[in-house]
Amino acid sequence: MAFGFFKKGEKKEKAASGSTHYFELKVKETVQETKDAISIVFEQPANQPISYKSGQFLTLIIAINDKEVRRAYSLCSSPFVDADLAVTVKRVESGLVSNWLVDNVKAGDTLKIMEPMGHFTTEFEKGRKRHLVMFAGGSGITPMLSHIKSVLTQEPESIASLIYCNRDIDSIIFKDELAKWETNYQGRLHVIHILDNAPMNWQGYSGLLNPELLKKLFERIPAWGLDKTTYLMCGPEGMMKNVETLLAQHSIPAEKIFKESFVQGTIDKAKKPAAETAFSENKVREVTIRYDGNEYKIMVEPKRTILETALDQGIDLPFSCQSGLCTACRGKALSGTVKLDEEEGLSQAERNEGYVLTCVGHPMTDDVVIEIG
Ligand SMILES: Cc1cc2nc3c(=O)[nH]c(=O)nc-3n(C[C@H](O)[C@H](O)[C@H](O)COP(=O)(O)OP(=O)(O)OC[C@H]3O[C@@H](n4cnc5c(N)ncnc54)[C@H](O)[C@@H]3O)c2cc1C
Ligand code: FES
Repeated sequence: MAFGFFKKGEKKEKAASGSTHYFELKVKETVQETKDAISIVFEQPANQPISYKSGQFLTLIIAINDKEVRRAYSLCSSPFVDADLAVTVKRVESGLVSNWLVDNVKAGDTLKIMEPMGHFTTEFEKGRKRHLVMFAGGSGITPMLSHIKSVLTQEPESIASLIYCNRDIDSIIFKDELAKWETNYQGRLHVIHILDNAPMNWQGYSGLLNPELLKKLFERIPAWGLDKTTYLMCGPEGMMKNVETLLAQHSIPAEKIFKESFVQGTIDKAKKPAAETAFSENKVREVTIRYDGNEYKIMVEPKRTILETALDQGIDLPFSCQSGLCTACRGKALSGTVKLDEEEGLSQAERNEGYVLTCVGHPMTDDVVIEIG
């Protein structure tokens, strides 16, 4: 295969235990990364290490006010470098879980997590020679740090460039760690910071990422040619849209660009209210779900998702964000038609192969059979 950064169609690995998808992990330590972000370092269970890939996320399952809530957090650790698993949580204004985690989690606590998931990942191979160009904003640095550590240590001939946007200097997560990797792997990692509000003595870039700035940035990072370069992005929606537009203006084809979204989009939503009425027909439909060697039949009412209906009936299907972003609930429709409220989480190739997201999926025919896992 010529390239294949993200093997979107690949099978999800089983949890290390083989039988369970959930773990209780002990918090080894928490690290205050910035004023509003902490890293939570989990001890790898000695008897049953959890395997994962760079770029995957953990789903943290927390009981707040007697209600169980789940949120996805990308692993910033690398399976090749770090003995433990780590995620970094940044406070979101009025956010339920992010603030709870930052305020409450401490060393010695035990948290329930769901096995690592996600497809913002790649295989690392010694003989590979490629350039990963990464655009990150705020907490979107987490999967990028994992990729940086993995690519630098596993692929001696590959390089990485990181363009990292933040509000101000104090908001930069992993500032020192990135500098350390840049020094230790001189010439193979280029980190460029861009700040919204730069201090007087700031030597780097500031302001909006626009065509002129992108041109300057591209002059500073090695030009390896399209065939050897992959573009990754993770950050606020506005930043990702902007970067996509700018890369398109540079004639970089969409299939060279991979993105991870942490938050459901608002820009496109405003433009396409029709998506919300995609399931407008008024019919209860039967859906068959195959998961973990079991087969379940559920009746899905109009305006309810396949996942909601299954969970209401006590079927323990995998899920995390419940908004069509993280792909934790992904399954393959073996027959029938499923309409998605939100298609952003799946690539066109995945959709063509029949993949669906049960958290935003509605059956449109009576013969829907979905295989998960
Ligand atoms: C695959 C994936 C990986 C993720 N990895 C990380 C990570 O490594 N670190 C991290 O801090 N977060 C990460 N997130 C986001 C995280 O899952 C939560 O959404 C986030 O912590 C907010 O949860 P909350 O309960 O505090 O906010 P909620 O109570 O769910 O939301 C409160 C309000 O904030 C908005 N909002 C939610 N998330 C964000 C956001 N990230 N930025 C701005 N506004 C937001 C919501 O739309 C809502 O209006 C990831 C999300 C996904 C899908
Ligand atoms: S649960 Fe995240 S995409 Fe469905």
